Amino acid sequence: MQYSDKVMDHFMHPRNVGEIENADASGTVGNAKCGDIMKVDLKIEDNVIVDIKFKTFGCGSAIATSSMATEMVMGKTVDEALKLTNKAVAEALDGLPAIKMHCSMLAEQAVKSSLKNYFEKTGQMTPEREEMFKSLDEDAHDH
Ligand code: FES
Repeated sequence: MQYSDKVMDHFMHPRNVGEIENADASGTVGNAKCGDIMKVDLKIEDNVIVDIKFKTFGCGSAIATSSMATEMVMGKTVDEALKLTNKAVAEALDGLPAIKMHCSMLAEQAVKSSLKNYFEKTGQMTPEREEMFKSLDEDAHDH
């Protein structure tokens, strides 16, 4: 199995690891197949993500994709962040081995789950946004 330099870099030196005290929102997801778990904390001001931290009990690919995912949504609005896909994260890492693609789902789902928590907590959940979370439960169980 061959990992790209970017995957190795983010695995060896993951960005934004940890937890945020008094986070505005958090989300935790698990991968039913491998049992790996990921938690994401968000600090949000005026609907812009000003800080994001993650913690994972997961494999190297889960760590690398979470690290990249946090970098990709930092500074974005919550709605921009909602469009993050595991494919975009994997591409930004110059690809993942096919059997490791499911690990990148954990990163996408954890970010989404924390955003869902934010919209619900702040009373900003709309039907359009709700639509973006439809895959959350299904994906979390399927991959
Ligand atoms: Fe579980 Fe990679 S093996 S997330």
